Amino acid sequence: MTPAGPVRPGSPRRIVLGVGGGIAAYKVCEVLRRLTAAGHQVRVVPTEAALSFVGAATWEALSGLPVHHGLFADVPEVPHVRLGQTADLVLVAPTTADLLARAAHGRADDLLSATLLTARCPVLLIPAMHTEMWDHPATVHNVAVLRSRGTVVAQPASGRLTGADSGAGRLPDPAEIVDLATLLLRRVDALPRDLTGRRVVISAGGTHEPLDPVRYLGNRSSGRQGYALARVAAQRGAQVTLVAAHTADLTEPAGVDLVRVDTAREMREAMLKAAPQAEVVVMAAAVADFRPAYPSSDKIKKTVSDPAPVSLVRNPDILHELVRCRLEGQVVVGFAAETGDSERDVLTYGRVKLAHKGCDLLVVNAVGRGGAFEVDHNTGWLLGLDGVEAELPEGPKSLLASYVWDAVAARLTG
Ligand code: CTP
Repeated sequence: MTPAGPVRPGSPRRIVLGVGGGIAAYKVCEVLRRLTAAGHQVRVVPTEAALSFVGAATWEALSGLPVHHGLFADVPEVPHVRLGQTADLVLVAPTTADLLARAAHGRADDLLSATLLTARCPVLLIPAMHTEMWDHPATVHNVAVLRSRGTVVAQPASGRLTGADSGAGRLPDPAEIVDLATLLLRRVDALPRDLTGRRVVISAGGTHEPLDPVRYLGNRSSGRQGYALARVAAQRGAQVTLVAAHTADLTEPAGVDLVRVDTAREMREAMLKAAPQAEVVVMAAAVADFRPAYPSSDKIKKTVSDPAPVSLVRNPDILHELVRCRLEGQVVVGFAAETGDSERDVLTYGRVKLAHKGCDLLVVNAVGRGGAFEVDHNTGWLLGLDGVEAELPEGPKSLLASYVWDAVAARLTG
């Protein structure tokens, strides 16, 4: 497994933000705001058409830097060469069908297309267009050409488009775009297309076990790690089903089928239904191990002076069942949130859990002292049933997800 590059988490970088001529350009103001808030220096390079949607003054005010689109501004600075040469990332959003075609053909007739030719850093294109344009053989071909050259062409989201249309081609949420950009800044090779055509099912979030109609027993989990796994898998080409219990208010990852569940038993049903069609199964959810044995159908009143103790019953161990009915060649991944104690450290507990669960890979997170839960960053170890062990570098949850998918992809092909 490749370790992360030398870039420290959160260190400011130089980003060229290309903006194509599509209505989604207005959403990219929020992308710019988030990137500059993270401390990055962002040079906005719109196409001429993009300026019909959002003017140069807006981009200049938000980036704090001058904005040009033609090849004949600032000529002594040679920006058509310098911008691409010196960038750490070129991000283009929205990337229109026309921009994809121009990039695939190596055109250099404006500042953005020239910058794409001179960039030697990761290039991340975020397409947004009508479904017919996205599905057209010309666009499909252009995307394939760009991907074969190592350009990351993201999977667009599905949903409402301009006018009454709905379908694939929607610009992913700004938070998701920034997450992918941040991932590539940390790890240039985080998004290969090595899961193309693979079907994966991932659980996320914490289950709620009802005590009465308004109260429940639950596990702490924001669902962020499961969502990051789903997002990265989809961008690496997988067909993803995400079985989500209760989560923080998270953006639905682009290009992912979302199945909502409430309790452990509902999650078990959804996972066992999806697993036989999947080549990879990941249990990232925090499943409540117990549930109240006798949930009340009416709200338990506070006026009851001495409430009866709550008796609990064991919930099914979903990961155990998934391992038991694993298909030939299927890769099963579990997560373990552990704390160490005076007898054993976190890693030792992780090894014991891996042997007990029998999954192919186990991601071990140290919890407590601010680790793992409800935060954006994560770290840990990746343990393989085959004895392979790797420490995962501290970073965004999508970075950890990228290392998990590396290990899964190696097992799928191997
Ligand atoms: N898990 C599961 N079903 C459960 C409990 C856990 O599928 N009823 C899965 C989790 O999604 C995770 C792995 O098992 O992938 C380990 O979860 P964890 O809570 O760390 O361990 P438990 O099996 O619950 O054991 P313990 O709480 O005793 O450490």
